[in-house]
Amino acid sequence: MAEAIEVYENEQRRFPPSPEFVAAALTGDRSLYDEADADFEAFWARQARELITWQRDFDQVLDWQLPFAKWFIGGQLNVSYNCLDRHVEAGRGDRIAFHWEGEPGDTRTFTYAELLAEVAKFANVLKGLGLEKGDRIAIYMPMIPELPIAMLACTRIGVAHSVVFGGFSPDAISDRCNDASATVIITADAGYRRGEPSALKANVDQAFPNCDTVDRVIVVNRCDTDPPMEPGRDLWWHELMADAEADCPAEPLDSEQLLYLLYTSGTTAKPKGIMHTTGGYLTHIAFTHKYVFDLKPDTDVYWCAADIGWVTGHSYIVYGPLTNGATSVMYEGTPDTPRSQSRGGDRSSWPKDRLWDIIERYGVTQLYTAPTAIRTFMKWGEQEVAGHDLSSLRVLGTVGEPINPEAWMWYHTHIGGGTCPIVDTWWQTETGGHMISPLPGVTTTKPGSGCHAIPGVTVEVVDDEGNVVEEGGGYLTISKPWPGMLRGIWGDDDRYRETYWSQYPGRYFAGDGARLDEDGYLWLLGRVDDVMNVSGHRISTAEIESALVDHPAVAEAAVVGAADDTTGQAIIGYVILVGGHEASHALRDEVRRHVATKLGPVARPKAVFIVPDLPKTRSGKIMRRLLRDVAEGRVLGDTTTLADATVVDAIRVGAADSDED
Ligand code: PRX
Repeated sequence: MAEAIEVYENEQRRFPPSPEFVAAALTGDRSLYDEADADFEAFWARQARELITWQRDFDQVLDWQLPFAKWFIGGQLNVSYNCLDRHVEAGRGDRIAFHWEGEPGDTRTFTYAELLAEVAKFANVLKGLGLEKGDRIAIYMPMIPELPIAMLACTRIGVAHSVVFGGFSPDAISDRCNDASATVIITADAGYRRGEPSALKANVDQAFPNCDTVDRVIVVNRCDTDPPMEPGRDLWWHELMADAEADCPAEPLDSEQLLYLLYTSGTTAKPKGIMHTTGGYLTHIAFTHKYVFDLKPDTDVYWCAADIGWVTGHSYIVYGPLTNGATSVMYEGTPDTPRSQSRGGDRSSWPKDRLWDIIERYGVTQLYTAPTAIRTFMKWGEQEVAGHDLSSLRVLGTVGEPINPEAWMWYHTHIGGGTCPIVDTWWQTETGGHMISPLPGVTTTKPGSGCHAIPGVTVEVVDDEGNVVEEGGGYLTISKPWPGMLRGIWGDDDRYRETYWSQYPGRYFAGDGARLDEDGYLWLLGRVDDVMNVSGHRISTAEIESALVDHPAVAEAAVVGAADDTTGQAIIGYVILVGGHEASHALRDEVRRHVATKLGPVARPKAVFIVPDLPKTRSGKIMRRLLRDVAEGRVLGDTTTLADATVVDAIRVGAADSDED
């Protein structure tokens, strides 16, 4: 039988962890896998009891009424208690929870005791506004300490938060508030981005007339931009906090209490309110944060450079690290904005070394970032890294999209000093936490492979009929419930069943393609909507993109299948060149040939267009749908989730130029 998705890549490099790393690692053998394979419910129950403090122990591990799961039934716990109080009670109140750095270079440090004090006060503020267990509020904030404080305060009293990414528009705010019937929005006047205050309150003001259920707006004064305040509706954070009581007990909450909603940044349909609950979610992310990053909380300084507006920030900036008592870095701004004191001349002459500067100054031991960021750093060049001492780093992580071997090797060599294990973590907003990832002291990694499901998670690749594939390409499914799994889509059980559970009976379908190689390693092939059908061969865009960026002149690439009379779909590549290379007909041909040489003639793109930029969502995912529109000469579809709306015009011009030469 033909493979569901054909695979051409053949990466042979292998990187075992060093013997020193294995010897010092939290886990250096297969015992966690063996334990979980023997009894996954018992395995997760042990993690839940070891990693989490329960106010009431659970009676039952799992209740599975496909597709609805409940974990740790009868158990009661409080997330903010697990993140804060218990560390303070254990005498670790003076440990730093967050080294926070603002984009201009201002800093604030919060110990666990200080963070607890702020959270308790803000929980009292929320109570004072009449909020109760089960209510929902929206949070639309920059990356400042008040953001995790607000989230944790919600969890202290059982209010669910819905964080709306600070880069989203007024429409996104009102849609999400209405869907969740949120009654309060917490925001800031503005946050620093690319050297300037970027207004947030103004967007809330614009959204407010369309928000049917919101009656209060709490505003943090971050940038002194003096926004208009509506009397009776708008309240200053600092004024509320000045009057707030200090003590607020952490309420014991049911294990299945709604913890938060997070709307997926869908590129087409109405966003889905993904529901996460308390006990299972916290267990899953505490476990993965500890073992995937080999976290040693007494000595490590961990940094996840994502935004809290995405699930990565929820799980691996806020809840995972704090549950584990970690010391983290939190940074407000962009990687190409230096501290004010290191700026000179105009923006184009500013150094682009902020990440490396932060790692060096705080002695960061784990860095967690995205392939799109790594490719950007590659484009900026090694000279931005040179001169910074990155020797404190022990483990590097990546998340968000397939990482091409080229970028993996660059990360390994230039950031990891050739020694740090790289954990390529595959997961989704819906999964809550990591699902596929190496364990750094156990797994021999291959550049570009997510390697294996983590202990306690069962992933299977299936073909079109849902038969399990032992080797080769297919569709990624999860065949057993897991503690961090979404509990549904807010207010829409039918859509939940239909989206995730209808394609392959009994299985969660992730929407991604994957391949199992001859050694049983998993290779993620991107969204299956992004699989092309060329003369009857189903080829993943991710693989062609990886081969394109393997050419030394290519910095970034996006591939789409455009309708073609002869072959059904034709492969069209859009590429950004590395600085110093000139666009030419000869170069475009050479790049096409390079793909054919690497992957075989069927994978040769019909056309390669050289463009100045690529259309991406604000979380850095390429919007292939728009590139297909351009390739097929159509009017553009919905562009509201595009990070920079001018990019598509620039691409049209770039593509037209490429046609002419
Ligand atoms: O296609 C996969 C890709 O990102 C999708 C999930 O996106 P989101 O819900 O926004 O969550 C991103 C952060 C967890 C997945 O369906 N993806 C995520 N991580 C990887 C990945 N693709 C390949 N490799 C990864 N490590």
